[in-house]
Amino acid sequence: MGITWQEEQRLFKLDTPNTTYLIGIVDEEGFLGHIYYGNKIEDATGAAELLRTREAPFTPEKNDRERVSFMDCFPWEYSSHGVGDFRESSVRVKDENGCSAVLLTYVSHEIYAGKPPLEGLPATFGPKDGVQTLDILCEDKSLGLRAHLTYSVFEDTDAIARSVRFENGGSSVLRLEKAMSCCLDMDNRGFDVLTLHGSWARERHMERKPVGCGRYSVSTLRGESSHQEHPFLALLTHGADQDRGEVYGFHLVYSGNFLMQAEGNQFGAVRVVAGINPEDFSWKLEPGEAFQTPEVILTYSAQGLGPMTGSLHSLYKNHLIRSPYLHRKRPILINNWEATYFDFDEKKLLEIAKESAALGIEMLVMDDGWFGNRYDDGRALGDWQVNEEKLKGGLGRLVEQVNGLGMKFGIWFEPEMISGDSKLYRKHQDWALAVPGRRPALSRNQYVLDISRREVRDYIMEQVFAVLHSANIEYVKWDMNRPLTDLGSVSLPADRMGELYHRYVLGMYEMQERLTREFPNLLLENCSGGGGRFDPGMLYYSPQIWCSDDTDAVERLMIQESTAMLYPLSAIGAHVSVCPNHTVGRSTPFETRGYVALAGTFGYELDITKLSDEDKAMVAGQTAIYHRFHDIVREGEYHRLASYQENRKFDCFQINDPTGRESLVFYTQVLSEPNRRSRFVRLKGLSADARYRIFTVNADSGELKKDTGRVISGAVLMNGGICFESLTGDFRGSLLCLERVDR
Ligand code: GLA
Repeated sequence: MGITWQEEQRLFKLDTPNTTYLIGIVDEEGFLGHIYYGNKIEDATGAAELLRTREAPFTPEKNDRERVSFMDCFPWEYSSHGVGDFRESSVRVKDENGCSAVLLTYVSHEIYAGKPPLEGLPATFGPKDGVQTLDILCEDKSLGLRAHLTYSVFEDTDAIARSVRFENGGSSVLRLEKAMSCCLDMDNRGFDVLTLHGSWARERHMERKPVGCGRYSVSTLRGESSHQEHPFLALLTHGADQDRGEVYGFHLVYSGNFLMQAEGNQFGAVRVVAGINPEDFSWKLEPGEAFQTPEVILTYSAQGLGPMTGSLHSLYKNHLIRSPYLHRKRPILINNWEATYFDFDEKKLLEIAKESAALGIEMLVMDDGWFGNRYDDGRALGDWQVNEEKLKGGLGRLVEQVNGLGMKFGIWFEPEMISGDSKLYRKHQDWALAVPGRRPALSRNQYVLDISRREVRDYIMEQVFAVLHSANIEYVKWDMNRPLTDLGSVSLPADRMGELYHRYVLGMYEMQERLTREFPNLLLENCSGGGGRFDPGMLYYSPQIWCSDDTDAVERLMIQESTAMLYPLSAIGAHVSVCPNHTVGRSTPFETRGYVALAGTFGYELDITKLSDEDKAMVAGQTAIYHRFHDIVREGEYHRLASYQENRKFDCFQINDPTGRESLVFYTQVLSEPNRRSRFVRLKGLSADARYRIFTVNADSGELKKDTGRVISGAVLMNGGICFESLTGDFRGSLLCLERVDR
């Protein structure tokens, strides 16, 4: 691992365990070019040739008459604007004359151990002896604009974290109108672009298409990372799959408006830019002021998507998620949302709790509806005082009784929102985002609080803290149920209104930071109408995020498949709910719903008092499976074996215990097929020369089935496969456990 400056070739070499990233400085003007990112190169001698500066149009130093041609084809490390590069710019700055040209060139650099935090933003971190950072200072002298391009490499992970810090070093006001976190130029080696798309209850489905000429982007202007698009983009060589082909992954650590774009150009090159969406963004930089972009994670794999997944999982577990729960078994929870919606009281919650405790469930989460006069979703957001009509003895008494059953207690908040029908709105109408003279648009009957304002944040956090201090509350679900519209804040002058989207996100991060500082042992789960704000930024604050409001097992297979492509299973909020499913009306076996939820944080979201005895018996089995195997799910190495999104028939993945002693294989056959023979699925990550005893996990008890236990070598399992017999009936799941047999 490490970062070196090679004076002779004027290049920076950044090494991760298996990859190398090279940046070069050319011309007397100090242009910063991207040389290479890919498989590890020990000896980079001659690599600067990859910048093609020895061929026409040559650098301006050698051929100033074709300066524009040079600008337009040079592989820039961070692209300029308005001076000849007509591809996507990385930065755009309005100066005092209203002009927007900018070109950043090399001034100096620093290489140091460790990685400083990014002010106000979530970011990866690591110890001084495990992370190294390169800070390249660039400047546009005529603007007085300085930019620190920073790159951190991790000793244990094939990932590079990039971000940019701008400083106005001049004497006049500058307006940053675009400030991307990274730019990467390289030859298009026949790439496809892979992105994730969806909707409410249908988050993060994969889409893949070839990169042609022109721009292809995913983005959001909803003020949150969104259900619709995801701040992720990968370039894959044609035909690349889980195990083969080259993959470049880009994942933005940010929870607001973003743009991730790939652009094919006239010379068969491709440029990727990623960062805050420049639309509706404008940040005023007074002399001496600075702006920090969010960071973007870059990964490279020469062996398909699998290693990209491995790198991101390892990075997020070891260098992003800070919660003390990261490596802890989370309490099995039951959430009352799908059980009662708004219609509950203390008695109903206690009935659920009693039944749950008896079946091994460990925490009751009281969802929306416990505060103000919240009898439906039309009111009371912002009035964070307990509704004592529903909870007659108050929150303290309810929590004591739940604790008395041996269960923990958790609660729901939606701190960023305000209902028109609320005491808070009647008192502080100007606390909602609104454009002067225009009635703000409702969504789910609610407005958005202007949390760019300190006094608004202070007030809300005081209310939240008062509730949390009033009883033994060990878990919070922080929800956010509508996109941002009507971007206007009474606290910002006209020339700073373009900062509002980003200031909102910074305000939300600050609130989450305050919450986790005040309650360091709180288990925080983020949520946004399901998985509308499932992004790496939120993981910095909460170790888990509610993945989707869709709890149907089959829909979840698809949502969880692509979520797990980027995020560790320990971050994926997943519950068993009732059938017919409330979102899609589908009925799936209770057993299968259990397996799907067990591949996430695991819990229930149903009225347990109404379950059949048979299902109740299975709850006991599922909780036993959770206790027996969840260390593996949380800490293990995840491998995707078959993609239901691709094959539309079955889903299969494997998790290997880090010690190599045990493996779990989750298999779901979606629709039953007539007259089909058994299916062999090749396993991954085993020891070829070890042998494994195969057990089926008994869904009713969590025990390993005694009648199984056949022994198969790692080599056979990985090259030939493991057999899954065709099952009768739709939506059938099974869980296998492999135990390594010592020889
Ligand atoms: C969102 C969440 C749900 C539930 C409701 C409550 O939709 O995703 O899980 O908490 O809000 O209003």
